[in-house]
Amino acid sequence: MLLMKKQSLIRHFNNIEQLAAAIQLKKHSSVFVLADENTHRFCLPMLTNEINDFHVIKIKSGDANKNITTCQIIWQTLNDNHADRNSLLINLGGGMVCDAGGFAASVYKRGIDFIHIPTTLMAMCDAAIGGKNAINFEDFKNNIGCFQMPKQVLICTEFLKTLPERELKSGIAEIIKHAMLTNDKAILKQLRNNQLSDLDFKSLIKKSVQFKLSIIEKDFKDNSIRKQLNTGHTIGHAIESVFLNHSKNKLLHGEAVAIGLQLELLLSVIQYNFPISKANSIFEILDKWFHYQPLTDNQKTEIFKLLAADKKNNNNKINFTLFADLGKPKIDSYPKIEEIKNVLAAW
Ligand code: GLY
Repeated sequence: MLLMKKQSLIRHFNNIEQLAAAIQLKKHSSVFVLADENTHRFCLPMLTNEINDFHVIKIKSGDANKNITTCQIIWQTLNDNHADRNSLLINLGGGMVCDAGGFAASVYKRGIDFIHIPTTLMAMCDAAIGGKNAINFEDFKNNIGCFQMPKQVLICTEFLKTLPERELKSGIAEIIKHAMLTNDKAILKQLRNNQLSDLDFKSLIKKSVQFKLSIIEKDFKDNSIRKQLNTGHTIGHAIESVFLNHSKNKLLHGEAVAIGLQLELLLSVIQYNFPISKANSIFEILDKWFHYQPLTDNQKTEIFKLLAADKKNNNNKINFTLFADLGKPKIDSYPKIEEIKNVLAAW
């Protein structure tokens, strides 16, 4: 059991029965479960075997729906069912459900309690941890949001059985990111040498959660060391946005981050002499888990425009977290515009 700053309780469970028993329901006047089309179909029945007496809010799946329209549906349902400030929202889903549900709850009546029950590897390792809540706005990922901790984060790998392989693999990008930041050779070796079915998800998730907590306890609001966690995401988010806004091809968050990690590692080689042999070894691991979408010249131009408007930028300079070496992240790195364009062109 882990207590996060501002009392978010993170717990890992072996089965859903135990998880459901741990939900702090009693002190709430009413309970709402937010589910997307997928978790409504595959995960909610696993939970409703164990708990009852709640309202269900069903929203559309996919990051394209992580927007104000979805929040309006959530707020409307809360209003229609007379939710008050003692109501509870349980976010049952992946990153999209946790991000949008966390944001909707954080501002509803100036804030009601919410719990995350992450159902994807991505959400268990990253999105549900750390109290970043947001929706996309215009062309920008996570453009509108807030920092607010969930009351509880309840994790059970049973939910991973409901995922298609591609969705499961998407979460591996964040595990690789955390292993690069901590220079965790054992995790990198596990990811290099094993197939999906052989991975020890419970221990991989626990390590990611521990690492994220150690960072967030020191810097909740992303002012200093939390920026480490943005590595791969400056380019990754821009790529994800371009596919969300202008492409029929689906691109999952982890798939975009995998490209972002590769290109930002190239920038690290250029800017900080990051050892090429280690960069190649990370590229090999990423290539093993991800099959990449090619990027057209038009998409690269769009990606660059989004980078130039990234929320982390400072004085018109594009902000990255690069690496001097594995385990040695360099926050607030500002590579030259030409270098950024060159690595994009090289993809
Ligand atoms: N996903 C990055 C962070 O939580 O700070």
